[in-house]
Amino acid sequence: MKCLLVFYSRTGITKKIAELISTEMNCEYEEIIDTKKRKGRFFGFIKSGFAATREKLTIIKKIQKDPKLYDVVILGTPIWNKRMTPAIRTYITENKNRFKSVAFFCTMGGKGGPETFESMTKLCEKTPVSTLAIIRKDIKNELHRDEIKNFSLQFTS
Ligand SMILES: Cc1cc2nc3c(=O)[nH]c(=O)nc-3n(C[C@H](O)[C@H](O)[C@H](O)COP(=O)(O)O)c2cc1C
Repeated sequence: MKCLLVFYSRTGITKKIAELISTEMNCEYEEIIDTKKRKGRFFGFIKSGFAATREKLTIIKKIQKDPKLYDVVILGTPIWNKRMTPAIRTYITENKNRFKSVAFFCTMGGKGGPETFESMTKLCEKTPVSTLAIIRKDIKNELHRDEIKNFSLQFTS
């Protein structure tokens, strides 16, 4: 099964998980870059959280890989205010017609996984073949490695 892992990360946690998944699955990946300023307390927390709550789109850098060439697109996002990030919302909106099937993963403090996966399902107009929610505490306790192994196993064929 040919998989493409697509993710957005503001502070590196989702990126770290994406790298572990892509190593485990030996799949290609694409990092989505949001052209909007998201660093710092004001832009990072308040404005970004507000944009997520309002379900805003953003402008992302041109993508390099065509999702149509893959059997599954695995979409990864941090959770902001119990929602997907504007960067992933934008990627899905612009590319969903090119998805054959999807899987989702997210990283978070601990709240909003089911709500986020539900809205990603609606936006993709596809039920994910698998989902993985990684809580920061799990990373601290090294539990994420087994979670990633179990998730990745579902794509071996
Ligand atoms: C604006 C903002 C809103 C957030 N809202 C939530 C939330 O609703 N639930 C949660 O569990 N974590 C929330 N978090 C924490 C992030 O989801 C978590 O730290 C994530 O792993 C960061 O990923 P990154 O390093 O890839 O950017 C929020 C973080 C930010 C910056």
